Amino acid sequence: MAFPERFSNLPDYAFPRLRTLLDHHEPGGEPIVMTIGEPRHAVPDFVAPTLQAHVAEFGKYPPNEGTPGLLAAIAGWLRLRYGADLGPDRIMVLNGTREGLFDACMALCPEVKNGRQPVVLMPNPFYQPYSAAALSVGAEPVYVPATAATGFLPDYTALSPDILDRTALAYLCSPANPQGSVASRDYIAKVLALAEKHDFILLSDECYSEIWRDHPPVGALQVADEVGADPERVAVFHSLSKRSNLPGLRSGFVAGGPEAIARFRQLRSYGGAPLPLPVQHVSEKAWSDEAHVEASRALYQEKFRVADKVFARIHGYQGPEGGFFLWLPVDDGETAALRLWRETGVRVLPGAYLARDVAGHNPGKGYIRVAMVAPKEEMQRGLTQLRDCLYG
Ligand SMILES: Cc1ncc(COP(=O)(O)O)c(C=O)c1O
Repeated sequence: MAFPERFSNLPDYAFPRLRTLLDHHEPGGEPIVMTIGEPRHAVPDFVAPTLQAHVAEFGKYPPNEGTPGLLAAIAGWLRLRYGADLGPDRIMVLNGTREGLFDACMALCPEVKNGRQPVVLMPNPFYQPYSAAALSVGAEPVYVPATAATGFLPDYTALSPDILDRTALAYLCSPANPQGSVASRDYIAKVLALAEKHDFILLSDECYSEIWRDHPPVGALQVADEVGADPERVAVFHSLSKRSNLPGLRSGFVAGGPEAIARFRQLRSYGGAPLPLPVQHVSEKAWSDEAHVEASRALYQEKFRVADKVFARIHGYQGPEGGFFLWLPVDDGETAALRLWRETGVRVLPGAYLARDVAGHNPGKGYIRVAMVAPKEEMQRGLTQLRDCLYG
């Protein structure tokens, strides 16, 4: 039987790898799970009554691109948050951003770039679907270090003109998973200028945009507007998973240039699953309400303060600027995760599982990723045990 080769070099996904590492060892205490980025703050109050009010609409096929009401709510939020003025033809709703980030390569990556195999740039470490997306269209994923040396963001401007001329798409994640770094206005403006010069599209994954420490992170749409970039230069991805504590709703969107969004819509009209109508109604409410987002952000900000206190004396500790992950330096992430599990029952992810080896070096190897999603007391207990075990 012939199967495709294109995914044969993909490592197993991070979570099955973690199970292989830990699950044949007994936990050293009551397990505290700090691995997955699944928000555990309350589901907003409007979800149940809205689903109930629209339950009969499960009996209908939903519109592919989003209901007019949902597209208008998203446009309203983009205006409020970024001052961006986008018509409905520049927005496409998604079943969460993961599938949109994956579909982006299928919808937007050309077969050849300047006569050669196209390149898709991504930070390293990175959100893992980016690389599978590049491979799915026969593009070459190029992993660009996003380490302490580069401010935990990829320095795309340092790449060779040869790579940049082959670049069709570049992923950026801000606030970054796993590093917690946030791209500045100046950083995004430079990437947009590079995109213009070398003719590629910036895919800006902003699903953690509403979880921040001191001030709201700037978004790529906003910067594109400010510098007068071609609207086709950037596509941004936003989700209700983190903003509204609704990872199980599966609801997000992509916004970008009219041509890019038309291509997304066409692809999804053939192969995508539109969001059920009751889910679209809930999503409309969620994009129209900031109170639940502010309440959740306040809880995360408390968690940042707890983490800062717990790790105050730890050399190399840097709390996140945004998002809800700690990216903690250790000698070796796998050894640390295993030891922590066996001695305390705290479960974290080795950083190497979120990065690729380049020239024999894995930039995530000396880190663990810790998700601050559990209720505050449980999280504080987990962090304190972690500190005493790994840094004591
Ligand atoms: C960086 C990043 N992008 C995108 C996603 C996808 O989220 P969703 O598909 O729930 O919108 C995640 C989820 O963990 C993420 O961490």
